Amino acid sequence: MTHSSTAKAAQTVAALWLALASSAAIAQTGAMPHPVTVQPLSPPIVIAHRGASGLRPEHTIASYTLAIEQGADFIEPDLVLTKDDVFVARHENDIIGTTDVAKHPEFAARKTTKLIDGESHTGWFTEDFTLAELKTLRAVERLPKLRPDNTKYDGQFEVPTLAEVIALAKQHSVGGRVVGIYPETKHPSYFASIGHPMEARLVAQLKAAGWDKPSDPVFIQSFEVDNLKRIHAMTGLRLIQLMDANGGPADHAAPSYAAMVTPEGLKAVAKYAYGIGPGLAMIENGDAPPTTLVADAHTAGLRLHPWTFRAENIFLPPSLQNGTDPAAHGRIEDAMRRYLALGIDGFFTDFPGIGVKVRNALKEK
Ligand code: G3P
Ligand code: CA
Repeated sequence: MTHSSTAKAAQTVAALWLALASSAAIAQTGAMPHPVTVQPLSPPIVIAHRGASGLRPEHTIASYTLAIEQGADFIEPDLVLTKDDVFVARHENDIIGTTDVAKHPEFAARKTTKLIDGESHTGWFTEDFTLAELKTLRAVERLPKLRPDNTKYDGQFEVPTLAEVIALAKQHSVGGRVVGIYPETKHPSYFASIGHPMEARLVAQLKAAGWDKPSDPVFIQSFEVDNLKRIHAMTGLRLIQLMDANGGPADHAAPSYAAMVTPEGLKAVAKYAYGIGPGLAMIENGDAPPTTLVADAHTAGLRLHPWTFRAENIFLPPSLQNGTDPAAHGRIEDAMRRYLALGIDGFFTDFPGIGVKVRNALKEK
């Protein structure tokens, strides 16, 4: 066989395989896999923040599924632990704002006040519920005033486990498509302090899913530092150091996030992390001129995945708002384009459908 006929035969086999895999995907999900128009998972990547959380209650299978259908590269579960040490997807261990727990009289006595990362919280906490108990609750929209359309889904969806999120990503990783996961350890020092350390459990669960190498479609992120360093010693998966414009890590392993973005601070982060996840304001604060963070991080060998693009006016700088209603949608596409032009390597968004459209237009230019 000549080189070109071998290549043609390989293409035919690949096309056949893709067609079969696509048929299998449609049979499993009832939906067409999103057409792959760009190289899967090549930067800039689109990370569905808590799923398509602008359009469905966050951290639900419905929210993640919509994000995948809209073409997101990664779905983001924030992770906390149950009493029986199962990872579930919630933004915080206090579930008062994102579930109907307050309406369950059988759990009324579990309402309590706890000190978490130096702040007092009154509510119901995942570590006080078994998975079976948590599964009797239903998700509700966190931002009902800003996202009233999402409240029609209140009471419909369970709190998903990490295992279910992994299964969903794998189910949709067919036909040439790869859907990755981007888990965040929430309050790891607090969970360790109450006898539920996260690191080894998370690494083991991801390894059991077949993920432990830098080339695997997983990023592990945290606002804390030492848990990432421990995870770095346990796995080859890529890690992302989250940071915010103000404050510092809850484990006090660095004096502040401001210190972390100095050239020396970034060099230290690059020893254990693949990249950083800064708040958008650390790159460009509203309509002010951009900072040097993109160039500084790249110089240190770090990628940047900033958070979080949201469509509502209240989250956009004045120049990109439409009208005065805080819930009305402004020019989120322009916000994304601005940051992409600055050289970011990916981004978190509550509206992954918009993110994919903007990103693909840029890549196809
Ligand atoms: O993980 C990136 C971004 O999600 C960080 O903020 O508070 O939404 O988890 P948060
Ligand atoms: Ca997060």
